[in-house]
Amino acid sequence: MDLRLITEAENLQGKYVLVRASCNVPLDKGVVCNSFRLRRALPTLEYLRLEGARVIVISHIGRKTTDSLLPVYEALNKLIPISWGGRITDPAFATTREAMNDGDIVLCENLRQDTREESNEQSLVEEIAKYASIYVNDAFAEAHRDHASTLGLAQVLPAYAGITLAEEVIELMKVMQPQSPSLFLLGGAKFETKMPLVEKYLNLYDHVFVGGALANDVLKARGYEVGTSLVSDVSLAKAPFLWSEKLLLPLDVIVDGPYGVATKLLDQVAKEEKILDVGPETVLMLESYILKSKTILWNGPFGNYEQGFVEGTEAVAEMIAKATGFSVLGGGDTVASVEKLGLNKKFGFISIGGGSMLTLLEYGTTPVLQALCK
Ligand code: ADP
Ligand code: 3PG
Ligand code: MG
Repeated sequence: MDLRLITEAENLQGKYVLVRASCNVPLDKGVVCNSFRLRRALPTLEYLRLEGARVIVISHIGRKTTDSLLPVYEALNKLIPISWGGRITDPAFATTREAMNDGDIVLCENLRQDTREESNEQSLVEEIAKYASIYVNDAFAEAHRDHASTLGLAQVLPAYAGITLAEEVIELMKVMQPQSPSLFLLGGAKFETKMPLVEKYLNLYDHVFVGGALANDVLKARGYEVGTSLVSDVSLAKAPFLWSEKLLLPLDVIVDGPYGVATKLLDQVAKEEKILDVGPETVLMLESYILKSKTILWNGPFGNYEQGFVEGTEAVAEMIAKATGFSVLGGGDTVASVEKLGLNKKFGFISIGGGSMLTLLEYGTTPVLQALCK
């Protein structure tokens, strides 16, 4: 992929540059609890600042129009000097922008507070584009979303790839053709983004393990009781992969409910109980696959880690760190749940992308990335 890199752009001094960054980070009680994506935003911001550009950072957080990037402003400001720009569509932003000096960085409010962001409406694209002469996309985590800030702006302004976005593409291309034996581990809760990928990855990888909340859908379709567990509204009963021999599923699970927290085999889950993690038998089963795999790709935690159901996810992270195969992991929540283990250097590559990482590996590109190519 021949990306137009921001480091190739000339004369940035004094220019207004819009940077689409991936600031969709997990929050705990209104405070950023994992800053991996913010740290990965720094190389491009630092570069532009030193070049003397006037940097307007745009991003999204969460999925509700009430979600705010203010907690991100607090956290990012500790890593690099920035100021708060408020909503870029508020008339007051024009004054904020006028007051910017060379090298200043302003972070604007969550673009998804405006519903035109996700529907990529031209009116929003124009309202934002008028504030800058250059657009940089460093938001690899949203490279699979055709939104105003990820695709629309690239079509009306000179568009460049940010430093982190370009690095992501180079590193992830390395696992597009996995070396056999290969293992794909998929967890988390984004049913609509991730379930369609299972079929594809069953063709690409030797084995695919589905865990986390996603597994509940598969177990339900196989006829198991999943109680009050998180499931999607879509039934997988007719999914072609349901009984695939390459598909690995949890053997046991950790449940919580009226009888307390317990480890259960699949046929022991009661209808009042909720599956919240994978169990120790599952971890043991995965160990044998992980240790022999030459390529390991992992996205999505295997339990509700925010509520303390971390054992399955942490055990898998430790095993991957020990394994000799090349490993790639990614996903906002996946990284948040394993970063505290201090194993980062033991993985081959950690992507800021979750769904975007999987989409790139599946298709080799996305419309958003295409818009940044020469
Ligand atoms: P990523 O950001 O790594 O791509 P997702 O956003 O798809 O991952 O999913 C992360 C979410 O999945 C977390 O909020 C976690 O609590 C949730 N999750 C994982 N397993 C379960 C489960 N068994 N029940 C409920 N939530 C779960
Ligand atoms: C992610 O966390 O996967 C990205 O930031 C995309 O978020 P979204 O699924 O809400 O579009
Ligand atoms: Mg997530």
